Amino acid sequence: MTRLLTIETTCDETAAAVVDDNLRVLGAVVASQDELHGPFHGVVPEIAARAHLERIVPVIDEALRRAGVTLAEIDAIAVAHTPGLAGSLLVGVVAAKTLSLVLGKPLIGINHLQAHIYACRIAAGRDVFPCVGLVVSGGHTSLYRCRDACDFEWLGGTIDDAAGEAFDKVASLLGLGFPGGPAVARAAIDGDPAAHRFPRSFIHDEDRLEFSFSGLKTAVRYAIAGPGRADFRSVALTPRQVADLAASFQEAVVDCLVEKSVHALRKTGLRRLCVGGGVAANQRFRERLGQMLAKRRIELIIAPPELCTDNAVMGAIAFERLRAGLVDGLDLDPLPGLVRR
Ligand code: KG4
Ligand code: ZN
Repeated sequence: MTRLLTIETTCDETAAAVVDDNLRVLGAVVASQDELHGPFHGVVPEIAARAHLERIVPVIDEALRRAGVTLAEIDAIAVAHTPGLAGSLLVGVVAAKTLSLVLGKPLIGINHLQAHIYACRIAAGRDVFPCVGLVVSGGHTSLYRCRDACDFEWLGGTIDDAAGEAFDKVASLLGLGFPGGPAVARAAIDGDPAAHRFPRSFIHDEDRLEFSFSGLKTAVRYAIAGPGRADFRSVALTPRQVADLAASFQEAVVDCLVEKSVHALRKTGLRRLCVGGGVAANQRFRERLGQMLAKRRIELIIAPPELCTDNAVMGAIAFERLRAGLVDGLDLDPLPGLVRR
């Protein structure tokens, strides 16, 4: 049996896990920084990096403790080195390189977005490739043709905000908490999704596998402030109004994600969709996507919510790279920008 220690510090979660080559999770820890970023309604990169630095060693220690193994019993070290916040990535990459050097064990750099899709492979307990992959997170909204676990082709993505980012910003406009996704979803439960007709960019353009959520965000802002007025802060909304705005916004995002997924499936001819990233935890999205794909007899795999939001377990994609001989050296760098592979 081979045991992998995986490290995840791409954004604002410090996470580590020990997983074996049967994809059994032996121990996993996620230390959230929500309480640090909440007052700012978004992730502050400098705060995130400093918190990772304080937490990375205790988090790794705790993952090993839960797994009941020592560092000497670890066979390889994996780290998400792209994409993400530069300072955050650096902490994980340096920790992983140090362990690899000291223990003399292989180092595997992984792509965080591919890992989000691989969460579906872990959850399914069987092969899920080839498939269309959709990553919907705080930083990314992208569609991929996934030929196998090491071969991802970027099909298209957002041209401005990510879906999760839109949830976070709209939550802030509505005076809801951070992270915004769960807060908007909770507020939307009592709302009417048809109360406001918000824009759904390029939704009918089948050839355009792109998303745009910035106009939607602006539309919510004007819906709060009133026509022609930009100052939404002085407007006191009733709980009913907040619920309707949240539900209508959520519906617009869900419509775009569902439609574009169908377009990508049609374009590639693939019959399976794997969805990952924090927004994939959204209940309304899961239901609507499930209904749409069931009608078309297309297989849908969405990881359970705890594997949708950032975690280190999904770093087990490193086993696939290890098997394919894709091992990295100590020159592995953090690559903050989007890597379209
Ligand atoms: O994948 P993730 O944990 O981190 C990134 O890689 O970005 O995604 C975080 C994003 C945040 O924007 C958060 O608001 C959103 O996922 N999110 C949700 C839900 N849970 C988390 N969005 C909508 N509905 C949810 N239930
Ligand atoms: Zn993520």
